[in-house]
Amino acid sequence: MKDKEDGTLAEGKIKAEEVAINFDYAPEGFDPIEIAQNHRSTDDWVTFSKGKSLIDGSDCFSCHRIDVKSIGPSYLQVAEKYKRDKKGQEVIAEKIIKGGVGVWGEHAMSAHPDISPEQATLMVEYIMGLNDPKPVVQNIPLAGNYTTIVPAKENGKGGYLLRAAYTDKGVGNLKTLSSEKIIALRNPTINPEDYDSAEGIQLLTTPRRLFNIIQDGAWLAYEQLDLTGVSEIAISAEAPSRNGAAGGIIELHLDSPDGPLIGTAEKVTPLTIDVQAELGKLRAEWEKGGKVGPRPSGRTVRALFQKDYIFDVSKLSDFQNIYLVFKNPEAKEGQILVQMNRITFKNELNLIQ
Ligand code: HEC
Repeated sequence: MKDKEDGTLAEGKIKAEEVAINFDYAPEGFDPIEIAQNHRSTDDWVTFSKGKSLIDGSDCFSCHRIDVKSIGPSYLQVAEKYKRDKKGQEVIAEKIIKGGVGVWGEHAMSAHPDISPEQATLMVEYIMGLNDPKPVVQNIPLAGNYTTIVPAKENGKGGYLLRAAYTDKGVGNLKTLSSEKIIALRNPTINPEDYDSAEGIQLLTTPRRLFNIIQDGAWLAYEQLDLTGVSEIAISAEAPSRNGAAGGIIELHLDSPDGPLIGTAEKVTPLTIDVQAELGKLRAEWEKGGKVGPRPSGRTVRALFQKDYIFDVSKLSDFQNIYLVFKNPEAKEGQILVQMNRITFKNELNLIQ
């Protein structure tokens, strides 16, 4: 974080509390631009903390306190007096610069000729804000770890937006400038059908969503994924016998279906279990156990036999174009190789869990 006149965050000239950082959950299917525009409240917060740091950096506290009268009126008294008086707020901003006497008593406020009108306005905005509590904006520290929280009522399939905003203090008569940077963080689990391009696939939506790979050499491409910090890509896939799936091998390539080979996962073999027999066993146990939880279904059985096919990507970083390539030269024309469930990007942290 760097500003031409105000200096840098690293030097300590820009204080951490003057930079607004928020970290927000963005629901599934979000539009980062639209979300970014709903962040006015954070900018208010930035103005607020900037005015505060200007006041902290001046001599104001030698005559003022926030909530008790000293030589000058308390800032809360000032905020109360001018809260609905825009004109008055302009007058007091000017008075900070010129000094004055007679409104609150016989003491005079000294002049502050080195304070610009712009800065005086920020100070007044801060003082006015003391009486007008802001909605709680999650202002998080500039450095450190942040634990993501999925808000109540959300399905957890969204992503996160990390935003840093700074408004400079202005120089002389120059207006303040704001800048911000938004980083969108995708959900670590994606639906395989969120590919950027693909070949040899079939997406069925009724009676339920089925994403099938139906051709030897079929591929799915996911472009510009940031793999920094990602150690594994786990593919949840299966070859259900009820669909006559042939199974196959999944390879991970970069940049094209025959680009550099990063890894080959264990073969996805057709599921030969007898779902009905397994279901019978599960239901018998469920009844014996006092029918705790939902009654086992075919889906419960399949979930038990589903597994993840893992690619180690710890040596990759930065943005990469990932190609998943499916191979089974023995598969017949139109025969399903595998059914794709999800793709999860894992880092060291969620590997421990
Ligand atoms: C030397 C003491 C002193 C200093 C330093 C000082 N003030 Fe004051 N301030 C006063 C006094 C006394 C008053 C009341 C003046 C009056 O009654 O008109 C006052 C009034 C004010 C008012 C209300 C003006 C009005 O007309 O209602 C504001 C706002 C204010 N000060 C802000 C500041 C800020 C911001 C700073 C720092 C940049 C500051 N003051 C520094 C003594 C001081």
